[in-house]
Amino acid sequence: MGDNLKNTYLGAPARVLEVENLTSIEKLYTLRFLDNDINNKFTFIPGQFVMFNVPGIGEFPVSICSSPTRTGYLQLCIRRAGRVTKYVHENIVEGSIVYIRGPYGNGFPLEEMKNSPIVLVAGGLGMAPLRSILLYHLDTQHFSDLYLFYGVRNYELMLFKREIKTLLRGYHNMHVYLSFEDIDRGARELIRLYRKSIVRGMVTDALEVLRGSVPFEESYAVMCGPPVMYKFVVKKLLDLKVRPDRIYMTLERRMKCGMGKCGHCIVGTSTSIKYVCLDGPVFTYWDVLSTKGLIE
Ligand SMILES: Cc1cc2nc3c(=O)[nH]c(=O)nc-3n(C[C@H](O)[C@H](O)[C@H](O)COP(=O)(O)OP(=O)(O)OC[C@H]3O[C@@H](n4cnc5c(N)ncnc54)[C@H](O)[C@@H]3O)c2cc1C
Ligand code: FES
Repeated sequence: MGDNLKNTYLGAPARVLEVENLTSIEKLYTLRFLDNDINNKFTFIPGQFVMFNVPGIGEFPVSICSSPTRTGYLQLCIRRAGRVTKYVHENIVEGSIVYIRGPYGNGFPLEEMKNSPIVLVAGGLGMAPLRSILLYHLDTQHFSDLYLFYGVRNYELMLFKREIKTLLRGYHNMHVYLSFEDIDRGARELIRLYRKSIVRGMVTDALEVLRGSVPFEESYAVMCGPPVMYKFVVKKLLDLKVRPDRIYMTLERRMKCGMGKCGHCIVGTSTSIKYVCLDGPVFTYWDVLSTKGLIE
């Protein structure tokens, strides 16, 4: 999309086409801009986000979880976290009009990663932005192989169940591994069907189990999840010999404008300052080493 939809505080009106309950706290919203011209021109890079605005209520940043290869609509996976997202869950239904501005942020460096193996490491809601890469690869075969490691507390909290189960059945050059901290009924059933793809424990345990079976040394790695996950996953990836310059992570900070104007999302010190909304939300391992406070 041109700069028009980026440099506005209201955004463009979009109609909610569908709302799907993914878990008890996350819903998938499919939206389409009312203006056909915007629909046809709106494009983005996986990893970018938009600002979701409900006039009179508030707005928040949310990653785009659909793929730019699937045009004419946008999908956003929204967790009920606080005031505005609770309002959205309770009041925004099929047919509602909301306002979307963006896309913002840098997104993943897909060109650099082309034809290499990629390892996606998702924790909980971190699956949302990574789904965009997954669908992109499904449509374009962009990577030589894609390995998804997805850690969730239990099956009930797993996002995109239908799609993940389809991939577990086996799909050309896409390999899915799941980790569950608690084995509930759904997880037990998955273990029965796909024993080799499921680990009890954390996502780092799943990475360890696949040591020797995944070409970590040649892969790019991209991670997204709760803040507590990052330092453990980075440590494990380095231990598995993923090159430090090939480790990417997508980070969240409280945001207001989303476009580098308000300073709400600044992290770092005078030697290295980053605007998460402009310089991120995708950062390299080197950014993390050189910028104080990027990950805890
Ligand atoms: C780049 C980016 C991408 C995001 N992508 C998604 C997504 O795909 N799906 C999704 O559901 N959410 C996503 N978020 C988080 C989402 O923006 C927050 O959950 C939302 O702003 C909460 O608004 P609220 O008014 O409902 O909650 P508030 O009432 O403002 O806060 C409720 C709770 O949420 C926490 N919170 C608020 N903002 C953030 C934040 N930015 N990061 C972490 N915790 C926060 C607060 O600390 C508080 O504990 C993303 C955030 C960023 C910065
Ligand atoms: S959110 Fe305003 S500068 Fe980043």
